Amino acid sequence: PEEALVIFTPSGKRGRFPVGTPVLTAARQLGVDLDSVCGGRGICSKCQVTPQFGEFPKHGVTVTEDALSGWNAVEQRYDRIRGLREGRRLGCQAKVEGDVVIDVPPESQVHRQVVRKAADDREIVMDPATHLHFVEVAEPDMHEPSGDFDRLVRALREQWEVEEATAPLSVLAKLQPALRKGNWQVTVALWRGTEGPARVLDVWPGFHEGRIYGLAIDVGSTTIAAHLTDLRNGTVKASAGVMNPQIRFGEDLMSRVSYAMMNPGGDREMTRAVRSAIDGLAKSLAEEAGIAARDIVEMVFVCNPVMHHLLLGIDPVELGQAPFALATGSSLDLEAKELGLTEVNEAARVYVLPLIAGHVGADAAAVALAERPDQSEDLSLVVDVGTNAEILLGNRTRVLACSSPTGPAFEGAQISSGQRAAPGAIERVQIDPNTKEPRFRVIGVSLWSDQPGFAEAVAGTGVTGICGSGIIEAVAEMRMAGLLDTGGLIGSAEQTGTARCEPTGRTHSYLLHDGTANDGPRISVTQGDIRAIQLAKSALYAGARLLMDEMGVDKVDRVTLAGAFGAHISPKHAMVLGMIPDVPLDHVRSAGNAAGTGARIALCSVAARREVEALVKHIHKVETAIEPRFQEHFVAANAIPHASDPFPNLRE
Ligand code: FES
Repeated sequence: PEEALVIFTPSGKRGRFPVGTPVLTAARQLGVDLDSVCGGRGICSKCQVTPQFGEFPKHGVTVTEDALSGWNAVEQRYDRIRGLREGRRLGCQAKVEGDVVIDVPPESQVHRQVVRKAADDREIVMDPATHLHFVEVAEPDMHEPSGDFDRLVRALREQWEVEEATAPLSVLAKLQPALRKGNWQVTVALWRGTEGPARVLDVWPGFHEGRIYGLAIDVGSTTIAAHLTDLRNGTVKASAGVMNPQIRFGEDLMSRVSYAMMNPGGDREMTRAVRSAIDGLAKSLAEEAGIAARDIVEMVFVCNPVMHHLLLGIDPVELGQAPFALATGSSLDLEAKELGLTEVNEAARVYVLPLIAGHVGADAAAVALAERPDQSEDLSLVVDVGTNAEILLGNRTRVLACSSPTGPAFEGAQISSGQRAAPGAIERVQIDPNTKEPRFRVIGVSLWSDQPGFAEAVAGTGVTGICGSGIIEAVAEMRMAGLLDTGGLIGSAEQTGTARCEPTGRTHSYLLHDGTANDGPRISVTQGDIRAIQLAKSALYAGARLLMDEMGVDKVDRVTLAGAFGAHISPKHAMVLGMIPDVPLDHVRSAGNAAGTGARIALCSVAARREVEALVKHIHKVETAIEPRFQEHFVAANAIPHASDPFPNLRE
């Protein structure tokens, strides 16, 4: 038979095919990434391509208008009902008649690259575990009796190359009515792991127009953050964070472990609390995005070890004492049902990222997946700032990790006027070194407090408190304005020359905002606040230094600040405070919520799950809790910025 040359762009893949071959078939044979949910039946329209006509000297072909067959009845009907965009063809219907160049637009590629964030040039390649497949199932035959599900599996094998598949009862119960209603055609949500049988998560009669979604969830000690993501293209449809309700059992990890130790059944109480918060989050995110929670078919979790065990319903008592043995550190493939999560699809799958060690959790693994320090030429330090700081140091040769108990001060907790980052919270602070007068900005208002119009702009929320980034800037600015000595002691009005330094008991505090003008609270930085910040930053710095010791270096090339609020920390202030080691300021960058990003990457890509599983095996963890040098570094780091380490980059 006559053959024609088919060239696909942008991949550049090419091959010769007998005249009459459908474009989708040619694409499949060449391994071109061209989507199809209906398997070439002209129903799903995911296989759209744009044929190119004219001269293509680069490819050495001339493509004439009749290089593809004309519209057939399927395309005509599709165009009549749904409208086919100008120049587009359905790849499963258009047949090759002559040499042709065919462009596959991004929305027709399954494994297209999705830009993660505007500020970040790295991309995720979509490779989700769950896909929708349209299947035609044989009708039952009395002479060859077989179950409807068995025939569905046979159809999946023939039409989608699925070796073996299983289904939970929830799907089996829906299958028979769906098959009959859909006239022996159904759409299934099919989850495929790397090995083992595939699993049918849901079934709809006929061709299902809807989409399927996943939740990427970062369970932190203080906050649970989740992103509702479209599993087809990786788009985040809604994001939200809620307080971790376990806070009422203890502010930090160790106090929650002791709660479990002291109170019989305490671990189960905390497990119930966190699971119901996750259920609530799933429900409200689905509402916000205007989707049915049933369409959430996958969840990916990252958490620190204590949160991990409590989420899974494992008593965390072993994590409270050396040798800090985990029940398991491996990644887990589970069902949402096993975790008692009931808002999402009945058959929804759960993937839990692997942990690095007893104190270094899946959150650190997720940060590693998002930041890939193991791919960096430079020695890069990544700190994920939270109630517990996750710290990674590494380059192509070696990656080290530790976790450091900073406490919740960086999140605005344990601070006298502290609050969560929300409208009304002071987030930026400057103090004039001459007059010692402060100016500040609050979340939700774009003006500084001394600019005209500020009072009106802030009238809605008022100035309600100070959040993590605000307190970091306030303390660093106080140091730079000479209101604090290196030991962190606030001077008196006489010593500092400003009446804003007021006596408070036996110490002093600095008045940042006198609320009388707008009936708000007085906001001061107290000596206690400074101490809380010193403890937090010393823990962070000591963790980083311990890793540097282990690596045998006394400086790093780059610093990445990550964490739910890491994006808002000013690098200069972080360094003035001595939160991070000395490095040129333009080598410090913010990565936003890297653990959350890592969770999203794992949600969108099975390959990324395998990558992080391999990656954690290469990360060497350093235990801060039992390392005497940690204490030494901690004490020396109490001074602002530091008792002995030089900070040459601060001089500029
Ligand atoms: Fe579904 Fe072409 S593959 S319409």
